[in-house]
Amino acid sequence: MKKDFLSITDLTIQELERVLILAKELKTELKQNGFHEPLLKNKTLAMIFEKPSLRTRLSFEIAIKQLGGHAVFLGPTEIGLGTREPISDVAKVTSSMADILMARTFTHNSVLELAKYSKVPVINGLSDIEHPCQTLADLLTIWEYKKKLKGIKLVFIGDGNNNVTHSLCLASAMLGMHFVCCSPTEYKMNKLIVLKAKKIAKKTGAIIEEIKNPLIAAKNADVMYTDTWVSMGQEQEKEKRLQVFKPFQVTLQIMKLAKKDALFMHDMPAYRGLEVGKEVIDGEQSVIFNQAENRLHAQKALLVFVYELFDNKKDICYDALASLKKHNPSPQKLHSSMMNP
Ligand code: NVA
Repeated sequence: MKKDFLSITDLTIQELERVLILAKELKTELKQNGFHEPLLKNKTLAMIFEKPSLRTRLSFEIAIKQLGGHAVFLGPTEIGLGTREPISDVAKVTSSMADILMARTFTHNSVLELAKYSKVPVINGLSDIEHPCQTLADLLTIWEYKKKLKGIKLVFIGDGNNNVTHSLCLASAMLGMHFVCCSPTEYKMNKLIVLKAKKIAKKTGAIIEEIKNPLIAAKNADVMYTDTWVSMGQEQEKEKRLQVFKPFQVTLQIMKLAKKDALFMHDMPAYRGLEVGKEVIDGEQSVIFNQAENRLHAQKALLVFVYELFDNKKDICYDALASLKKHNPSPQKLHSSMMNP
């Protein structure tokens, strides 16, 4: 079965939990042994980038290599997605050779179109609507530090109408978390995403809130999260955005309203002195570098998951888990730690 990962909700709740458990197992294995069984031996990941990248390229390329496969990088000037060649042709050609595609595009429609014509699974490496790979790493990070996910209060301050915000909101809904988006009125989350998240939240007991005042939003947060005020492709709006978002900087004063042991998170690149104060992002509560490293572990699990499913393996992820020599604690124990606060 071909499973694309264009939105975090392309995984069922159970699949999302499985990917996170596998990520944790793979991370432990790598730290203990320094290498993995070649779960994706000789497989090829084609990576299409319309925008710049540090973490996404680095983590995907290293992830597939550590699993026994390799990556092909196709940069912004190489393909001309939709200009030099129609997206459908790019998808058909690339997927006739590679085993998995990953794409970072300007518009979400481009990843949808790639997925429509690709024979192999397509992973969204960031579009204007979602950044689901980042969210996998974020969830893994929160779980590691807070020892659970269900019930965690995650407060996002800044640009609501933003890829990172949307994926975080949907994932929080899926995992029974309390998600608060604090943004200026003209930069609130996409309404359809909010509707979708609230619908999921009804079943999982999650809370999804939009609060304009950062001083109210931050209260009792377990995690404070922000992202750039000017995403890639919005450079022409920079001046206006810097003005509107000024009151939404994550400062020490705002951090003090959160729980004492609250984490500070940022997907990076980060702009010190704009969306976050230097003393916060470089302070003790900041976990940004562990968060960035977790892109590697989370995406490794994702690659194994989508490939195993595509390859018609029955026990998705648990096949991979079974092949890991040391899994201590067991996947079942890991699952109950995630979901039983
Ligand atoms: N919202 C940011 C995320 C960067 C990883 C952007 O789209 O530029």
